[in-house]
Amino acid sequence: LNYNVARERRYILEVLFNGLRRLEYRGYDSAGISVDSSYFYVGCEDHCGNSCKPLPPLVFRQEGNIDSLVRSVYEEVATTDLNLEESFPIHAGIAHTRWATHGEPAPRNSHPQSSGSENDFLVVHNGVITNYEVLKETLVRHGFTFESETDTEVIPKLAKFVFDKANEGEGDQTVTFSQVVIEVMRHLEGAYALIFKSRHYPNELIACKRGSPLLLGVKELNEDKGTGASFHDVKFLTNSGQPKELFFSSDAQALVEHTKKVLVIEDGEVVHLKDGDVTILKFDNDKGKSKGGHTRPASVQRALSVLEMEVEQINKGKYEHYMQKEIHEQPESLTTTMRGRLIRGGSCKAKSVLLGGIKDHLKTIRRSRRIVFIGCGTSYNAALASRPILEELCGIPVTMEIASDLLDRLGPIYREDTVVFVSQSGETADTLLALEYALENGALCVGITNTVGSAIARNTHCGVHINAGCEIGVASTKAYTSQIVVMVMLALAIGDDTISNQTRRESIIDGLFELPSKVREVLKLDQEMKDLAKELMSEQSLLVFGRGYNYATALEGALKVKEVALMHSEGILAGEMKHGPLALVDENLPIVVIATHDACFSKQQSVIQQLHARKGRLIVMCSKGEASLVCPGGSCRVIEVPQVVDCIQPVVNIVPLQLLAYHLTVLRGYNVDQPRNLAKSVTTQ
Ligand code: G6P
Repeated sequence: LNYNVARERRYILEVLFNGLRRLEYRGYDSAGISVDSSYFYVGCEDHCGNSCKPLPPLVFRQEGNIDSLVRSVYEEVATTDLNLEESFPIHAGIAHTRWATHGEPAPRNSHPQSSGSENDFLVVHNGVITNYEVLKETLVRHGFTFESETDTEVIPKLAKFVFDKANEGEGDQTVTFSQVVIEVMRHLEGAYALIFKSRHYPNELIACKRGSPLLLGVKELNEDKGTGASFHDVKFLTNSGQPKELFFSSDAQALVEHTKKVLVIEDGEVVHLKDGDVTILKFDNDKGKSKGGHTRPASVQRALSVLEMEVEQINKGKYEHYMQKEIHEQPESLTTTMRGRLIRGGSCKAKSVLLGGIKDHLKTIRRSRRIVFIGCGTSYNAALASRPILEELCGIPVTMEIASDLLDRLGPIYREDTVVFVSQSGETADTLLALEYALENGALCVGITNTVGSAIARNTHCGVHINAGCEIGVASTKAYTSQIVVMVMLALAIGDDTISNQTRRESIIDGLFELPSKVREVLKLDQEMKDLAKELMSEQSLLVFGRGYNYATALEGALKVKEVALMHSEGILAGEMKHGPLALVDENLPIVVIATHDACFSKQQSVIQQLHARKGRLIVMCSKGEASLVCPGGSCRVIEVPQVVDCIQPVVNIVPLQLLAYHLTVLRGYNVDQPRNLAKSVTTQ
């Protein structure tokens, strides 16, 4: 929403489209946009006064990705007399890209969802409304008809219901827009980030949230570039009449090309933009309920934060795909992850690790009864890769929990536990709910995320940012390797009080220093992995065997192949081979065995022997120079990787598998950055 500087309709559309493109990795099965028709602003006040009934806002919705939406909007505009060059001194537009939860991808299920044919209220929504069926029944009883299968549709309809009730027998707008929205919020259960637009409140937008992430970006149009830093001192937005553009977004990536000044909207806040001014109300539904009445939302003032993100980070640069770029930038992302955290030591000072975000909690962590790792998908795998070193250096039992599974079982979490939440986005709904659960149970909660200001970063007691830079490809690559490094550093920091481990700790720190160069070396396998992908591209299935430190590599390698190349793939604990998977082995099924040199090496050698004896089609990953030790009679394909200290070997070993998954995907003709049915941040349960 921009204020005081005229913008053409084409500009407004493009700003919204570009925002959607930046968020497309969050969901891409359908999209929609709403902008104003001319009548709203052209002479409406002068000529029509109060009796003026604004024309309904325009809504375009389309199945497919953002490009299909853009095409359809311009095609439709071309058939009307809508003028793309028409200017608006102020304009409130909304747009959304969807990852379907309720209802198939189709225009009717895309957002904005509407209150009815007149578009009195329009809503874009991230999250899930859990009580939508009850609300829908009530609204149907009051004469509303529903056109979508979404949970979201109840929201604009409820807003219209509230608005109509408040205005019964009177003229328009006896209630303010925020009163309508707050009344709607009182009835909603579940998780949401919402933006409301209404024909009854032109030039206004309202956003509110509970659970799902939402940011407000503020761009002062006449701002002197040098004064950016002082913005921290401003109590809140000046509302000074200074021309500005205001942006709501669920992710900083859509904001950074416009502004770095953002407000992270908190749960229960209602942010009202009106004629370029911003008002924030705090709404606490639970308090209202417990008192048996409604609390009056209080107005709050909040300071802005400055994003540490550059536009270049969110471009593909010389690469064709984000996933490819992110795989290849791992030497740099790992360097950034470790920057300032590894202490080289000296003649009388041991090498050590400094993690500012947890240093004050180390004593408590060391006294924990156990450490529990919680995550989903790749983040879970990263935690699994780090489990052995944490157990070894800290002597504390470490248990692993997939967030949704912990919640399904309501597994025991104790006050004496340290619970580590691992999440690239810091917003995954399952992980967040598990965090709520662990907090309720009194555990010390540590967050490991890549997103400063994310819900997990904010709501844990302490934590470590992985600083891997923006990861846009839906399949996580550089965040995975940085997560492992952070957790290895965590193990080093917790185990720092044990003298007997000092030599081991120092050798790991040495290994970390040289890790980026080893990853640079392993990236040279790109062409080899492309050739392997050519051999495997028509296969139905791929197994990956690993154990010890590299059980996680097997799971993560298989996950990459399955999620982007859409090829069935399974990561298997090699120790379990004889208890089932061996039955699958024949001369056709390709099997990757990870057998780099560590304490499990001889066991992996015998796994290879057993697979070989059954004519298994083997692709063995081994340490450089050890091909003859792992490949009986030179009969298998070998991937040789540089050897590093055992606990960080998973960082090196995953790279060829990431490259393999990438090339398989390209060769099989699938979308690398937007795998079918997946989304990067799963902010719904
Ligand atoms: C989704 C993504 C995965 C990711 C997982 C956990 O499933 O597609 O790539 O690993 O969520 O996400 P988080 O942001 O919590 O690490």
